[in-house]
This record gives sequence, C-alpha cells and structure tokens, in this order.
Amino acid sequence: MNLAMKKIEAVIPEDKLEPVFSALTQLDIGGFTYFTAKGRGKRPREMVSSGRSGRFQSAYNVNINIYVVVHDNMVDKVVDAITSHASTGMSGEGKIFIYNVDDAIDVGTKKRGESSL
Ligand SMILES: Nc1ncnc2c1ncn2[C@@H]1O[C@H](COP(=O)(O)OP(=O)(O)O)[C@@H](O)[C@H]1O
Ligand SMILES: [Mg+2]
Repeated sequence: MNLAMKKIEAVIPEDKLEPVFSALTQLDIGGFTYFTAKGRGKRPREMVSSGRSGRFQSAYNVNINIYVVVHDNMVDKVVDAITSHASTGMSGEGKIFIYNVDDAIDVGTKKRGESSL
C-alpha cells in the first residue's frame, strides 16, 4: 500500500499545549514539532494591563504552532487529538491546516519518503 504523507499544522492557544502535547505523544506517529508563534485572527484583541502605561491592545496573540508529518491514514487521528483537547467550542481557538508532503528524508539514515517518518 503506497500511502501519501500529509503535514498537519495547528495554531492553538498557549494554555492548550499541555493536553495536546500528551494526546499527540500517545499516537503512533514519528514525532512533532512546536514553537511559540505570534499572529492574529479577525476579532479585535483583548485589552492588556501593563504597569506604567495602563491598558493597551496588543497587536497580536501569542499562540503555539504545532506541526506533524504523518501517513495519510493518521490524519484524522491527529486532527481529533488536537481538536478534542484544544477546542471548547469558542471562536479564537485557532486553526488547523493540512498539506500534501512531496518527500521527507531522515537525516541520520538517509531513508526517504514514508519510511523516513
Ligand atoms: N487564515 C489564517 N491563516 C493563518 N493563521 C491564522 C488564520 N486564522 C487564524 N490564524 C491564527 O489563529 C489564531 C486564532 O485565530 P482565530 O481562531 O481565527 O480567531 P478569531 O476569532 O480572532 O478570528 C490567530 O491569532 C492566528 O495566529
Ligand atoms: Mg478567525
């Protein structure tokens, strides 16, 4: 069976990293990468208090960006793991984007394609 590879990229609130991290760790996937990211959605940003300058509106949200490259047949499980631990049904809880991956290489073994994952 020749499966394709997909990249799943999720932007989630910072406070959802811990539950999403542990849900992803329990899946049979090769790994995942995350980093802190700045961005914004459509809604106006919340007012933030800061000592001397009073209250101001930050231009961006601080979110967590997670990406995972998996076999096609794991996509739904990864998406479920993220949504079931990061979503409370509110707006502003982020996005998940899914892309086709042309190729992948494991740096150590030089394996290519699905077997590199
Ligand atoms: N179309 C998009 N492309 C890339 N990142 C996005 C997009 N929409 C939202 N984001 C990211 O998701 C975060 C939350 O956005 P979202 O859940 O759409 O909230 P809002 O209700 O404010 O539109 C944003 O701060 C941004 O980092
Ligand atoms: Mg939005």
